Amino acid sequence: MDGDPRDPEAAAFAELVSAGPVEPRDAMPDAYRALLVRQIAQHAHSEIIGMQPEGQWISRAPSLRRKAILMAKVQDEAGHGLYLYAAAETLGVDRSELVDALHEGRQKYSSIFNYPTLTWADMGAIGWLVDGAAITNQVPLCRCSYGPYARAMVRICKEESFHQRQGFEILHTLMHGTPAQRAMAQDAVDRFWWPALMMFGPPDAESAHTAQSMAWGVKRFTNDELRQRFVDMTVPQADALGLTLPDPELRWNAERGHYDHGPIDVDELREVVAGRGPCNAERMAHKRGAHEAGAWVREAAAAYDAKHGAARAEAVVG
Ligand SMILES: [Fe+2]
Ligand SMILES: [Fe+2]
Repeated sequence: MDGDPRDPEAAAFAELVSAGPVEPRDAMPDAYRALLVRQIAQHAHSEIIGMQPEGQWISRAPSLRRKAILMAKVQDEAGHGLYLYAAAETLGVDRSELVDALHEGRQKYSSIFNYPTLTWADMGAIGWLVDGAAITNQVPLCRCSYGPYARAMVRICKEESFHQRQGFEILHTLMHGTPAQRAMAQDAVDRFWWPALMMFGPPDAESAHTAQSMAWGVKRFTNDELRQRFVDMTVPQADALGLTLPDPELRWNAERGHYDHGPIDVDELREVVAGRGPCNAERMAHKRGAHEAGAWVREAAAAYDAKHGAARAEAVVG
């Protein structure tokens, strides 16, 4: 069964998608299942790898309050990873297979997490811009065609909007501080603006998966539409903060009713996605190391489950 509309199974599936949502027990084309596994796994991996650039600042946060907030935020991202691995498992894959695929480089994570976090202001820029871009991408996914993914996204989006506000609040505080703090905030935004725009993927003309993904109701807007939405949302917030976005082509276009903006650097995006960004090797080495160091926890959990799971089963039967 594939996407051919003359195929009766494909036609039945198209009907199911439009009536929606598709649930795990429904018949679905192999390619739909594969597309979802790839996308949900990539999303889950991004949440988990995304804990690293911010996790590095937990011990260096400037106050107890900031430390508590950042810890809670990083912990939220772990939770997002878990919801998403669980959603992927409803498609018949095992979480350990997906984790292996990440470790072996067969699956990817978002390019944004391969940039270094050099100052405290980066925590503000990441919350404001990176979580802001994530929300823009993810709000439409709350209504995507696959039920378990859509439902996971509803909760994730609520938490992401908290993350975005905490980033804004960090920058707001810095922008009302000393000249050095304002300069630090501006420098963070200068470094994260373009990578944040790259989170929406390549321009539509070069996006390989968009058409099929839209036909199946997984993706509901194109990369360029979502990028535009993010720019339109963010420019007034930058003005409110007193920050300059590093794009000389950025200006309001009254005719279009949108902000015009410059193009992303597609070569840079391609390099980072191919594993040659500033921190790719470091992120993966850390991830593999943490996985190996945690092997005893997984073994202990499995042994506990084997022992007590069998006892529980007996109790239920008895
Ligand atoms: Fe998240
Ligand atoms: Fe987040």
